[in-house]
Amino acid sequence: MNKHIVLYKKLSPALMIRLQERAQVTLIDTLDSDGLQRLRAALPSAHGLLGASLRLDAELLDLAPRLEAVSSVSVGVDNYDIDYLSGRNILLSNTPDVLTETTADTGFALILATARRVVELANLVRAGQWNHNIGPLHFGSDVHGKTLGIIGMGRIGEALAQRGHFGFGMPIIYHSNNPKPAVEKRFNAQYRSLSQLLQQADFICLTLPLTAQTQGLIGAEEFALMRPESIFINISRGKVVDENAMIAALQQRQIRAAGLDVFEREPLQHDSPLLHLDNVLATPHIGSATHETREAMARCAVDNLLAALAGERPANLVNEVVWRQRLERV
Ligand code: DGY
Repeated sequence: MNKHIVLYKKLSPALMIRLQERAQVTLIDTLDSDGLQRLRAALPSAHGLLGASLRLDAELLDLAPRLEAVSSVSVGVDNYDIDYLSGRNILLSNTPDVLTETTADTGFALILATARRVVELANLVRAGQWNHNIGPLHFGSDVHGKTLGIIGMGRIGEALAQRGHFGFGMPIIYHSNNPKPAVEKRFNAQYRSLSQLLQQADFICLTLPLTAQTQGLIGAEEFALMRPESIFINISRGKVVDENAMIAALQQRQIRAAGLDVFEREPLQHDSPLLHLDNVLATPHIGSATHETREAMARCAVDNLLAALAGERPANLVNEVVWRQRLERV
């Protein structure tokens, strides 16, 4: 295969060798202004792109007239203009499945840590402020037996339900585009409208993708439906939530706490009010960030890209329409 692949994410040596055996590879290892300039310079001859955490808009991709495939090292595809890619017959692939369990682990870590105030109280010990037995002022709330509300019952939502139902005896309620009978049977889960879920769940967890339909889904009206003991967890995308409305709800103790792995702007701005709220636990978008899972995602992305550039259908194709059109033309 005589193709040029541009990587904007560093890969392990084994995966790098795999690509270099099959194509000419240019690595852009940082996305600072110098890196972006090098990316722009490499785009005119690129047949394939592989990376993550960069908004690939038309302005950038217009520089790449030979582009055949974009392979994202992520399950979320909100960084891509899918209509634009499809309009240019460029295949877009992602890395679902391999990160499901790890991301659900992150969700559960946030559930436990916010409910039991793990970070806040560990910081108190570290600061030398553990001077007498902990009293009600520092008590947390139970997780086992509480109602877990999941918004977006996809793969990650299901993995979260599995942990809650089997591990912690939590009643599961969920909201998604459509009821899911198989999920209801497996976890004894019950479908709720969005407003019912917000009113009834002890833990409200977002696991849905960012799309035009979900952007700003949770705003002031939705926070007003939650209860003062509700805990809000976001492991999906920051823009699904109106961050200012969330900050107000946390400041006014309209909800008890929030465990947040994603934010409207990432990295989180250093002057964000979220950093000053003791009922907020913020992590730096670590959903899938384990050694094992990030390597599995990179391997999956490499496989997707090599398949696409060899004229085969990538296993995790996002814009099926491009493939169908190709088949019709043959
Ligand atoms: C994804 O894959 O979309 C995750 O957010 C990255 O951790």
